[in-house]
Amino acid sequence: MIYFDSAATTLQKPPSVARAMVRTMKACASPGRGGHPPANRAAEAVYRCRQEAAGLFGMDDPQRVVFTSSATHALNLAIKSVAAPGDRVLVSGYEHNAVLRPLAAIGNIRVEQAAAPLFDRAALLESFLRRIDGVSAVICTHVSNVFGFILPVEEIGALCRERQIPFVVDAAQSAGLLPLSFPRLGADFVAMPGHKSLYGPQGTGLLLCGERPVRTLLEGGTGSLSALSEMPDFLPDRLEAGTHNVPGIAGLREGIRFVRARGPEHILRHERQLAGQLVGALSQLPGVTVCSGGPEESRSGVVSFCVRDTDCETLGDLLAGEGICVRAGLHCAPAAHRSAGTLETGTVRVSFSIFNTPAQVRQFCTVLRRLIR
Ligand code: ALA
Repeated sequence: MIYFDSAATTLQKPPSVARAMVRTMKACASPGRGGHPPANRAAEAVYRCRQEAAGLFGMDDPQRVVFTSSATHALNLAIKSVAAPGDRVLVSGYEHNAVLRPLAAIGNIRVEQAAAPLFDRAALLESFLRRIDGVSAVICTHVSNVFGFILPVEEIGALCRERQIPFVVDAAQSAGLLPLSFPRLGADFVAMPGHKSLYGPQGTGLLLCGERPVRTLLEGGTGSLSALSEMPDFLPDRLEAGTHNVPGIAGLREGIRFVRARGPEHILRHERQLAGQLVGALSQLPGVTVCSGGPEESRSGVVSFCVRDTDCETLGDLLAGEGICVRAGLHCAPAAHRSAGTLETGTVRVSFSIFNTPAQVRQFCTVLRRLIR
């Protein structure tokens, strides 16, 4: 099998991830729910992951790393902390439903899109600048999950900071892959999954929090201030009601350690090389249109393409029949496809991880050439 769907979930993980999960299941109970050794071991396992994440993202205070069940969960917490009915919220044209659906669910929000020619960072920044004054919040993905386009979030963050506008970054496709310093980015919240480029298990996610007040989505036991009827007002307890996913968090720690040991820059370079190889090969195939673009520094390890007169999802199924896993269709990001003019057709998306090889890309292209013939 060739697995090219890491923008959805990295399938192959460092072996230390599963080992840590099994160890934790056998030895750990609930953090903060007792003074006995299994509870203490759980608390330590959870704290170690917070420290590891804080280290990766350059944060001094691990307590501002909040565990969630996914990037979607983290985005819901962030978005519902900064947006309310009646607000104007500015987003990019590359957003995922994990951003747009929570905004729609809040209701009566005017969602404005910073429109710009596809894959043009300077024009996109200019468009944010033109529209930013007077908005209540800015929410922006760091990397498009469909096209691998890297958005200028540092510069957009600077625009927000100058105006004291809350800024939320969806780092679903960048965490672990692009160098990401929370203090330098200056965002109020950065949301990410554990199961993609952090190489942790599904069911894990992180929300990095700045100083803005946060709204709870879930209330319950935290093991702290139990006599209060309200949630504690300090992090991470305020946002972590209920028993943690301790095995998942222990696995995530190992994933983050792996990323830190390899270095996000090295992983990005590897994925970019594979993406470049693929784009080069695809451009030789008749009827294939590659929908990724822009200069190399604005591209990650994701490549989307269409084949003339071929239904993308059918092609995805045919590839699956050949043992090649890609994702085809709209990728839960219809807004990004609308921006690219691929809303009607969707695309076939190939997305890499550190475990993919140039030989796999060659084999993929051989199979694809046969299928489209
Ligand atoms: N958002 C994930 C993807 O792009 C699931 O496939």
